[in-house]
Amino acid sequence: MDLDLHVLVVAPTGRDATLIADLLTKEGIDCSVCSSSKVALDRVAGSGALVIAEEVFTPSNISAWGQKIATQSSWSDYPLIVLTVAGAVDPNSQKKMLFREPLGNVVLLERPIRPETLVSTVQASLRSRRRQYLIRDHLAQRRLTEEALLRSEKLAVVGRLAASIAHEINNPLESVTNLLYLIGTSSNLDEAKIYAATATDELARVSEIAIHTLKFFRQLSKPTSVYLTELVDSALVLYQARLVSARVTVQKDFRACPPITAMAGELRQVIVNMVGNALDAMRGGGTLNIRIDRGREYSNGSRTGLRLTIADSGSGISPEIKSRLFEPFVSSKADTGTGLGLWVSSEIIRKHGGTIRFKSSSLLRAKGTVFSIFLPAEPQFHAHDSTAVTEQTTILSKTAVH
Ligand SMILES: Nc1ncnc2c1ncn2[C@@H]1O[C@H](COP(=O)(O)OP(=O)(O)O)[C@@H](O)[C@H]1O
Ligand SMILES: [Mg+2]
Repeated sequence: MDLDLHVLVVAPTGRDATLIADLLTKEGIDCSVCSSSKVALDRVAGSGALVIAEEVFTPSNISAWGQKIATQSSWSDYPLIVLTVAGAVDPNSQKKMLFREPLGNVVLLERPIRPETLVSTVQASLRSRRRQYLIRDHLAQRRLTEEALLRSEKLAVVGRLAASIAHEINNPLESVTNLLYLIGTSSNLDEAKIYAATATDELARVSEIAIHTLKFFRQLSKPTSVYLTELVDSALVLYQARLVSARVTVQKDFRACPPITAMAGELRQVIVNMVGNALDAMRGGGTLNIRIDRGREYSNGSRTGLRLTIADSGSGISPEIKSRLFEPFVSSKADTGTGLGLWVSSEIIRKHGGTIRFKSSSLLRAKGTVFSIFLPAEPQFHAHDSTAVTEQTTILSKTAVH
């Protein structure tokens, strides 16, 4: 933990600065004198508070101070103690300028100041600064935890995909083994040829799975131009055997759409999780509707892009978790789920500048869940650490999909 509680003093008139510094040092407060506004501006980052004489502010430097304060980190509320001169406020006085420029956490002390007043004001400012540092460290810790979670979910996804792939290629490989046995024991060439043709088809399926897997795992880290339809198809390839054995029918409604710029591997991860969730919810069979169409963002109609809708006729999302669906560790699958899938998915969609919504019902007559994802045609990729962007651009709604 770095608690920098160093106090900067800027007071160019006479011996003011030295007197103030001596006073603060005597009280055990770590401080140093800056010779000018510019020096102080450069040293603000990494200090605890600033004691500054009003006359240091000039029309040319006051906006630099305003700028400095406006661009501080979200956790910071830098304390400024301004020593004013007694007297009227006229249109040109520094005090007037101070009020015009928002400098945040400002305490004005009118000179002459009693030493105890100055010391206790500085101490109060440092106390508030210490709390700000605690918030800073808390935020940093939260970021680290989130990053670790994202990494662990990535590993879990890789593990699940590996299991899926092994499962999917095992079936055709088993039939190839059987077919080779039949060829080996057959005495009829025509019959053997038919077996060989079937074996070739089965191997083609193995190679299709391998190609899809390689193609999208190579595209994990940089945006490329992709067709959403291809991504959905490549995710479905992994679920073919499961879809058949669970008696789930897939209905695709893919309209003609242009490609989008996206992190293909990451979007595929979103789709794989959505389809996996839908399958988990349709244990007794059902229908999976997947639709891709051009669309506009619901909350900002001027943004155009694509809309991907995945609707299942499964059990519906249980009411207890609906409101927390996009939070980490929210899962109804005790041993088989991590509860990280939708959280990661919403992060990925946010990074693409998109939005995700859902609607779900457990009522007997209208059972099922619809997830609707909007992806903008021209995404600006957002970094993981910009929480403000999360709030502004991700609309994670538990309400209706229109
Ligand atoms: N299509 C769906 N139908 C029913 N419930 C769903 C569906 N999608 C998600 N859920 C619910 O949301 C929970 C969280 O999903 P997710 O974040 O992918 O984690 P996990 O699948 O590991 O449990 C699931 O456990 C499930 O209860
Ligand atoms: Mg899941």
